[in-house]
Amino acid sequence: MPVLDVNLMLAPSLPGVGLDPARLNGAMAERFREVYDDIEGRRAKGEIGFFDLPWASDTARRVQEMANSFGQCFENVVVLGIGGSGLGAATLRDALLDPGWNERDEEGRDYLPRLYVLDNPDPATVGPLLDRLDLRRTLFNVVSKSGSTAETMALYLVIRERLSALVGEDKVRGHFIFTTDPVQGALRRIADAEGIPTLPVPSNVGGRFSVLSPVGLWPAAMTGVAIDDLLAGAGAMEVRCRTHELAENPAGLLATLLHHAATEGGMPIHVLMPYGDRLCSFALWFQQLWGESLGKAVDRSGVAVHTGPTPLSAVGATDQHSQLQLFMEGPRDKVVIFLAVEDQGEPLAIPALHADTAELGYLGGHTLGELLDVERLATTEALRQAGRPSMTVELERVDAPALGALFMLFQIATVYAGALYGVDPLDQPGVELSKRITHGLLGREGFSAPSIGNADPRWRV
Ligand code: PA5
Repeated sequence: MPVLDVNLMLAPSLPGVGLDPARLNGAMAERFREVYDDIEGRRAKGEIGFFDLPWASDTARRVQEMANSFGQCFENVVVLGIGGSGLGAATLRDALLDPGWNERDEEGRDYLPRLYVLDNPDPATVGPLLDRLDLRRTLFNVVSKSGSTAETMALYLVIRERLSALVGEDKVRGHFIFTTDPVQGALRRIADAEGIPTLPVPSNVGGRFSVLSPVGLWPAAMTGVAIDDLLAGAGAMEVRCRTHELAENPAGLLATLLHHAATEGGMPIHVLMPYGDRLCSFALWFQQLWGESLGKAVDRSGVAVHTGPTPLSAVGATDQHSQLQLFMEGPRDKVVIFLAVEDQGEPLAIPALHADTAELGYLGGHTLGELLDVERLATTEALRQAGRPSMTVELERVDAPALGALFMLFQIATVYAGALYGVDPLDQPGVELSKRITHGLLGREGFSAPSIGNADPRWRV
C-alpha cells in the first residue's frame, strides 16, 4: 500500500515556508470534514461512480471472460481512444508489462498480444503503424464513452475501411470490440446493429476516472495483467480513504495541501515526478486528471472563478538535467510530488572499474537502482534546502495492487480538490467550443464554421 509523506510541506521540516501543522490539524481539518461530507453526498446520489469500481466484481469477471475468449487469436491489440479513454491503457501497459513489450517476440510476451494505443489522429503515426501490423491478426478496441469523439471515430473509420478491404465486410466486425456508454451513442447503435461485442463505461464514471472500468481493465486483461490485483489495490486505498479525519486520509491530505499551496502559498504548479521510467505515463495520466478536472471558469453555483492548478510531469533522474534547474531557482510557484519506488526489480550492479579515476571510481560497488533512489533523496533534500516544498508517495514496487492504489489515491484527491476549489471536477465544458469549431470546419450538419484564417500578412514573418 503506498505511503504519502508530507513532512516537507510542513513548517518543522521546511522552516519559514512550510505550513504550520497546527493549522492543518485545526481549521483545515475542519474544512476537510465538510469536503468529505460533500463528496459522500454526491456519491450517495450516484453522481460519482469511480469509488465503486473496485467492488464491481461482475464487470471484472465479464472483462476477464471476454479477454479469455479471444485466446491467442490476435497478436496485436490496438486501443483507439483519446484523453481518459486512452491514457489509462497506456499507463497500465507502461507500468505493468515487461519493458519493450511490443518489441518482444511471442515467447518474450508469453504468447500474449502486443498493445498499442492510438490516441492522436496523426497520419505520421497511424499510417506506418497500420502498414507494419498484420491487420488480419489485430483486434481494435474502440473506446469512447460518448461514441462521438472526432479523433477516435475518424481512426475507427480509417481502420474499418482498411480491414474491410483486407478481410471482407462480413469478417470485419470480428476485429472490433467497443467500450462505450451502456445505452446511448453512435458506437452503441453500431454495435447493436452489427453484433459487435461491447463493454460498458458506467454512466456515472467519466473518461478520466475510468481506468478501473473496462476502459483500462480490458486491455490490461488481454495482456495478462491480473486485474483482480489491480482492483484489490484500488479497493484497499478506497477503504483507507473512508474517513473524514484529515490526518488519516491520504487523498484528503494530498488535496488539502496542494489546494492550500495553490491558493494561499502562490504555488499553483503541481509537478508529478516519478523516479523510474515505468511511471512516466502515470505522470501524464495525472496531468490530464488534475488539469481537466480542476481548471474551471465557474464554480458550482455558476460564479466566474477561472481557477485551477497547472499540472506538470517530470521523470527522475532524467529531469534533474532538464527541468530541475527551474524547480530549484525559478519562480517559487511549484510543488513537486515525488513517486518513490523501493524495489526497482533487478538492481544492476555497477562494476568497480576505473577505480583510480575519481569521476567514476566512487560508483563501483553500488547499483543502478541505488543510484536512482539516492538521486531522488538528493533532489528532495536540495529542494528542501532551497525552501521549496515537496511530498513523496512511496511504493514498495510497481505492481498491479500498487498501481490500482495509486489510481484510486489520485482520483479521490481530485474530487476532494474539486470540492475545495468549489468547482465540479466531473465536467469539462471548456473543451466543447473547440470540438464545435472542428465539427463546423469539417462540415458537420448543425455546426457553423467560424471565419478564421484571415491573419494580417504583415504579422506572418
Ligand atoms: O476525461 C474525459 O472525460 C475526457 O478526456 C474524455 O475521456 C475524452 O474527451 C474522450 O471522450 P470519449 O470517451 O467520449 O471519446
